Amino acid sequence: MSKNIRNFIIISHVDHGKSTLADRFLEITQTVTREKMKPQFLDMLALERERGITIKMRPVRMLYKYPQEQKSYILNLIDSPGHVDFSYEVSRGLAAVEGAVLLIDATKGIQAQTLHHLLEAQKQRLAIIPVINKIDLPQADIAIVKKEIQGILTSNQEILEISAKLGTNIKELLGEIIKKIPCPENKREVPLRALIFDFEYDVYQGVIAFVKIVEGQIKEGEKVYFLRKKIECQIQEVGYFKPEMSKSKELKGGEIGYLVTGIKEPSQVMVGDTIVKPSTVNAVPLFGYKEPKPKVFVSIYPENPNDFSKLQKSLCRLQLTDPAFTFIPEKKTAFGQGFSCSFLGNLHTEIIIARLRREFDLALIISRPQVIYKVIEKQGGSYFIFSAKDFPKNLLNKELQERWVILEILTPQKFLGSVSKLLENLRGHYLQTKFLGEDRLVLIYKAPLREIMAGFHDKLKEVSQGFASLHYEIADWQRADLRKIEILIAGEQEELFSQIAPRDKVFEQGKKIVKKLKTILPKQQFLVALQARVDGKIIARETISAQRKDVTAPLYGGDFSRKRKLLEKQKKGKKELKEKGKIKILPEVFLNMLKD
Ligand code: GTP
Repeated sequence: MSKNIRNFIIISHVDHGKSTLADRFLEITQTVTREKMKPQFLDMLALERERGITIKMRPVRMLYKYPQEQKSYILNLIDSPGHVDFSYEVSRGLAAVEGAVLLIDATKGIQAQTLHHLLEAQKQRLAIIPVINKIDLPQADIAIVKKEIQGILTSNQEILEISAKLGTNIKELLGEIIKKIPCPENKREVPLRALIFDFEYDVYQGVIAFVKIVEGQIKEGEKVYFLRKKIECQIQEVGYFKPEMSKSKELKGGEIGYLVTGIKEPSQVMVGDTIVKPSTVNAVPLFGYKEPKPKVFVSIYPENPNDFSKLQKSLCRLQLTDPAFTFIPEKKTAFGQGFSCSFLGNLHTEIIIARLRREFDLALIISRPQVIYKVIEKQGGSYFIFSAKDFPKNLLNKELQERWVILEILTPQKFLGSVSKLLENLRGHYLQTKFLGEDRLVLIYKAPLREIMAGFHDKLKEVSQGFASLHYEIADWQRADLRKIEILIAGEQEELFSQIAPRDKVFEQGKKIVKKLKTILPKQQFLVALQARVDGKIIARETISAQRKDVTAPLYGGDFSRKRKLLEKQKKGKKELKEKGKIKILPEVFLNMLKD
């Protein structure tokens, strides 16, 4: 019976305590034994534990004997990430459940992702359980936060107060989940339809699909068909997450679990696909997911060109667990073959690169993250620019455009001045202010995506002592006045250092690049000119002096003519070296240039 099942997700802004609350659930339901328990248990990736952030959503099935009813319930929980760059993970989790615990930190109140996730959950018509967390902290302002929450909910709901850390009121919250979240619809006597909300890859078992069985049921050994990808496979194992995968006989309507597909090629499958039986290939697919809109583009090359296919395989495997990034092959003369990849933001980029290095042991060369631009040909036609190397040589009869975003900044009133100043520097447009409770404002702006990707989030945290938060969505394309800054090292253009910049910032930016290069590039045996060039004109220059080698050191005494001869010879050698001299730029230089 699906009546004793509750499928729910915990959503919140980053760090409001989702994983800690999940820990308490795991303890109370004895899903994880006391000996195995560790803080933020569901953050299983080494990177998540090191950085203290959730990157992947994580499902777990818990059995709970509800004392009030003397009845057992199956609670399927999905823990989700809170950072804006991982919102796609949350959206996939939302589609697999009937309810959401909306968790709000009592010391921070409502923040940008709280609003965004709530809106998404409301769109999916999920039951919402609002909860204030961290009530144990002395700076908790429960009354004010409660008022704020009431202001964003559509109905007058009771708001629970908990401490996930101390375990206060957690059993009460479990009771609310059972009472307020509806059980999944009981549709077991109909043909199978299952939604794939995530994947994992196992070298022996191949692709493992994480599914919500919406209708019907599935057993080990049965054949299934993927409606969108149009492929068939035989299910080798079915089971639940406890949270580790645990085999069972079957999965029934309303349940969340996994299917071992045996498919070895990750690109054959996609999240959001619907699984049915081969006898019902004409079934209506379940509502999948919105395609995420890429925000930054980065070139990734293997340091060792022989690792190209290893990199390709690794990207395929990672994409299976994170469909929010894309990659297509590209070639650069200096590095051979690599990939042009797109990501949902700078943190997303950083995390995928760290995972490639760590989980797949790859040494990589990475280009500077860059937003996408559009070139409109006045005679008709248009194309995209994914990196500075594609910037048009001639701008005649062309219009350049860039993406703008709608920005929502949530800030306490006392930081309004400094946040507004920061927003003015974005050179965007102010749209609206909304009031949330007595002390909090939502400022809505429109601004170029390029500015947001250039460290805006960090600056916002800095000017608001960490209290302001942001959410943004891609809006439209707008005209942009841009130029390409080319970088020449000893007269040779180095494409990976090229940058696209607004015309009025090219001097400042060009200067910054050559100055930084000077501190990073090792000295050569000859003078090396570092130049920034825009529209064929040098706009900034630095020089790296030659490495001095005392060729006269072996000489004793005052044999001046011999000394002069040696120095002349060295000068000539240096001149020749400089003429022939191509500087080998080591990968570390490229990496260091990326760190601002
Ligand atoms: P992301 O998934 O990265 O968005 O974070 P999260 O929402 O899962 O938050 P997490 O559980 O990692 O907690 C963030 C920090 O808040 C940790 O240092 C927790 O120990 C702390 N924390 C969580 N709940 C409480 C609480 O009730 N009281 C106190 N004092 N600290 C808490």
